[in-house]
Amino acid sequence: MANLNDEISRRRTFAIISHPDAGKTTLTEKLLLFGGAIHIAGAVKSNKIKKTATSDWMEIEKQRGISVATSVMGFNYGDYKINILDTPGHQDFAEDTYRTLTAVDSVIIVVDVAKGVEQQTRKLMEVCRMRNTPVIIFVNKLDREGRDPFEILDELETELKISVRPLSWPINIGAKFKGVYNIYEQSLDLFTPNKQRVSERIEIDDINDPRIDQNVGSNDASKLREDLELIDGVYPDFETDEYLKGKLAPVFFGSALNTFGVKELLDCFVKIAPAPRPVTAEERTINPHESQFSGFVFKIHANMDPNHRSCIAFVKVCSGEFQRNANYKHIRSGKFMKFAAPTAFMAQKKNIVDEAYPGDIVGIPDTGNFKIGDTLTQGEELHFKGLPSFSPEMFKYIENTDPMKSKQLEKGIQQLMDEGVAQLFVNQFNGRKIIGTVGQLQFEVIQYRLLHEYGAQCRWEPISLYKACWIESDDAETLAAFKKRKHQFMAIDREGRDVFLADSNYVLQMAQNDFPKIRFHFSSEF
Ligand code: G4P
Repeated sequence: MANLNDEISRRRTFAIISHPDAGKTTLTEKLLLFGGAIHIAGAVKSNKIKKTATSDWMEIEKQRGISVATSVMGFNYGDYKINILDTPGHQDFAEDTYRTLTAVDSVIIVVDVAKGVEQQTRKLMEVCRMRNTPVIIFVNKLDREGRDPFEILDELETELKISVRPLSWPINIGAKFKGVYNIYEQSLDLFTPNKQRVSERIEIDDINDPRIDQNVGSNDASKLREDLELIDGVYPDFETDEYLKGKLAPVFFGSALNTFGVKELLDCFVKIAPAPRPVTAEERTINPHESQFSGFVFKIHANMDPNHRSCIAFVKVCSGEFQRNANYKHIRSGKFMKFAAPTAFMAQKKNIVDEAYPGDIVGIPDTGNFKIGDTLTQGEELHFKGLPSFSPEMFKYIENTDPMKSKQLEKGIQQLMDEGVAQLFVNQFNGRKIIGTVGQLQFEVIQYRLLHEYGAQCRWEPISLYKACWIESDDAETLAAFKKRKHQFMAIDREGRDVFLADSNYVLQMAQNDFPKIRFHFSSEF
C-alpha cells in the first residue's frame, strides 16, 4: 500500500479559471502535454463546449455529455500527481463552476493581456476570496498586441482585490515580443514565433549581464532593467506564505498557444501550490492525513438519456484512503453503501480505480441517491461546510400545466435541485415556486428534463427580481419587523432559510439603510 502521507504531499488539485476566450482550454491542453497525458494538441479542445448560440441548448448538452471526460484531468508530472478540475466557462454553467471551486486547493487565473480582467473572472475571484484560495495569475497572449503590463498589474490588484507580485516580466508585447525575464528562476526566456516552446533559456545571475543586451538589444535590455527596478520598489517580495493565505498572487506572462511560459508556470506551481489542506466540517476540522476516509459530493453530472436516470456523482476525497468496494456511510440517508465501479480520469481515460487519496476526485455512478454537498465517511457523522449557494441572476415562477402530473412535477423539481441545476425559493406571500438560475439556458434545460424524465409539464412566468439575499439578525424583533414590511418579497430556500427577494438594487440599498441590524448575504453560507 502506498504511504498516505507521501500520496497527499505530492498531490496538487486545482482549477483554471478565466473569462471565456482568455485561453483556459489552450493552457489546460499545454499542461496536459507536459504531463504526457495527451500527445497531440487539440485533444481537449475537441471536447470543449463550443460557442453555440444559447437557443441550441440540446447541442450544448450533448457536448456537455462529452465533456464529462474533461471534468477532472489527472496526470503525473515529475513526482507530482496533478488534478485539474474543469470549470465550465460557458455563462450558463456558472453555478457548477462556483461549486467546483469549493473542491480545489488552489487556482490559476488566465487573463487576456488585451482585455484585462473580465466579468466572469471577477465573479469567480469572489468565491476564491471567500475561501482564501491561493491564486496564481497567468497573463496570456503576449504574442498579440495588448496593454502595458504595469497597467495590467494595477487592474489585477484593483479588480481582483488581491496584492500581486510579478514573477516574470515581458520584453515587449505583440509583434515585438521578445520573451520574458523569469524573476522567480532568474533566467531569460527567449521567444521565437512559431516555435512551440521556449526557444532558448539563458540563466542569469546578474541583471547587468551583457548577454541580455546581446539577445534583446540594448534598448529593450535597459527598459527591462528599469522595469525590474520599479517592480522591486513597488511590489512586495514574493512570500510563499502570503500566497498560501490567499493574500498575494504571483503573476506570470506568456502565450499558451505558443507554449511560451507554460512550463515555467507549471514548475513554479508544483513547488508553491498547496497539497490537499484540512477541510472544515460542522463537527470539526478534518485533516487529510487522518487514516479514516471522508469525502463529499461537489458535482453531479446528469446523463441526458431519458430512459436511464443515471448520473455520475463527483466525490472529492478529503481524508484517508478511498477504496473500491469498501463500506461507506452516506451521512444524509444514514445508509452504508459500496461502490463497485468508482472511476477516475487519468491521461484523459476514464478508468475504474481501486483506491484514491485526498485531493483526488472519484466519479461514482449513481441513480439518484446523491445530492450536492453529501458526505461519505467510514461511519463518523460529518457534514462538510463550504458548498454555499450564490444568489441567482435570473428568476422565474414555475407553473404546473398538467394538473394530473403535479406529483411528478414536484419530484422532478426536487431532484433537479438536488443535482444543483438551479435553486428553488418558495414565496411566503403567495406560495408560488420561484426557480433561480445563472443563465437563461437553464430554464430550457429544466423544462425539457421535467418533461422527458418525469413526464411533467411546466411553463415559466416572468418575475422581475434583482437578487436573492439570505438574511439574519441577532435581534429577533427587527427580523420580524423586516419580514412583515417585506412580506410580499420573503421566500424560503430548500433548507428553510429566510431569503429576501429584492426587485432592484435601489430597493436592496434602501432595505440595508432602513434595517442596519439585519445582515444581507449574497451566498447561503455566512
Ligand atoms: P477559453 O478556453 O478560455 O475559452 O479559451 P481558448 O483556450 O479556447 O482560447 C480562445 C482563443 O484564443 C482561441 O482561438 C485560442 O487559439 C486563442 N489563444 C489562446 N492562447 C493564445 C495565445 O497565447 N496567443 C494567441 N494569439 N491566441 C491564443 P480561437 O480562434 O477562438 O480558436 P481556435 O480556432 O484557435 O481553436
